Amino acid sequence: MSSAALAYSLILYCRPGFENECAAEASALAGRRGISGFAKTTPQSGYVHYVLHDAVNWLDLAEALPFNDWVFPRQRVIGVGRIDDLPERDRVTPIADAVAELGLRVGRVWGETADTNDAKELSGFIRRFSPHLEKALTRQGSLKPRHDDWPTLHLFFRSASSVDIGLTLPHDASPWPMGIARLRMPRAAPSRSTLKLAEAFMALMSREEQQSTLRAGLKAVDLGAAPGGWTLQFAERGLHVTAVDNGPIADSVLDTGMVEHVRADGFAWRPQRRVEWMVCDMVEQPSRVAQLVADWVATGRCQRSIFNLKLPMKKRWEEIERCRKLIDQRMRLHDDKYVLRMKHLYHDREEITAYLARV
Ligand SMILES: C[S@@+](CC[C@H](N)C(=O)[O-])C[C@H]1O[C@@H](n2cnc3c(N)ncnc32)[C@H](O)[C@@H]1O
Repeated sequence: MSSAALAYSLILYCRPGFENECAAEASALAGRRGISGFAKTTPQSGYVHYVLHDAVNWLDLAEALPFNDWVFPRQRVIGVGRIDDLPERDRVTPIADAVAELGLRVGRVWGETADTNDAKELSGFIRRFSPHLEKALTRQGSLKPRHDDWPTLHLFFRSASSVDIGLTLPHDASPWPMGIARLRMPRAAPSRSTLKLAEAFMALMSREEQQSTLRAGLKAVDLGAAPGGWTLQFAERGLHVTAVDNGPIADSVLDTGMVEHVRADGFAWRPQRRVEWMVCDMVEQPSRVAQLVADWVATGRCQRSIFNLKLPMKKRWEEIERCRKLIDQRMRLHDDKYVLRMKHLYHDREEITAYLARV
């Protein structure tokens, strides 16, 4: 394992247009953990570079700022090196040499770029060059495929001649290259937002949490369900769903036979019995949704919830902090232990998705 490498920066991949939010979050989280540095942003670049004032052991930095704590970064890579003058004719040798010099031993290599049209033009060359690099790294003993718990080597190309060298640990990172969840649309899905809930399960919950709570026979409530993309995610896993919305639910979703459609106001409707899940995709003020969800979980109406928080145009990070505080206050009233995870998912646009559960 690459335990001795020094970290100089964090490379935070985000949705283009959200660099300022990502930078505000980096400054807040780093400040809270006593890590001193500064954020470098370029508008619409799809990433933020948070540069440390003092280099630290990369594993210590990863532990101080775990991936689950972050909202806006799709991936949080610990930067351990950078090459700015890659020659066009042979990019493999300088990268392999740098990896050897840093003493890195990794289980996989991901060649990545930002999620912008400009950067994506590099993806063709990355695809072509990656097998050659992997061969060179394997030959020199830096890469040991099938070592699943070893770090991932991230090569983040800013241009064809400039690359950041970074690391993550597989259990403390997005499982997807570039942090982008590429998921297949279920055939019966009436809306693309079905993919948001599918991504949320994978991004916000551990595999064990998913296995124990997305089981046939359990009950779920979907507030603001129409046309039924989120409802379908539960129905196809064999959960019984109460879909609350004044709007129509698609026939393809009702045809699963697992769905009861209730025409009612999602803010007023309550279940007669406790349910495992409540999800909420109603487009409303974030603080109102946060209070509703915290109320359901704190009073035990549901065990867990996934919900969207629509972001305001400005001060988005501050709004997230406000919602977090509201939820914390409500949960503390009952002295409840809980987990709250929030992410700006790949399938999110002007909103974030959160998971709240009693533990
Ligand atoms: C973004 S859509 C939900 C999409 C859905 N998650 C899907 O995957 O198909 C928001 C829905 O919330 C519903 N809605 C908004 N306010 C509501 C309320 N107070 N009570 C019930 N439904 C509400 C709207 O009718 C709309 O169908």
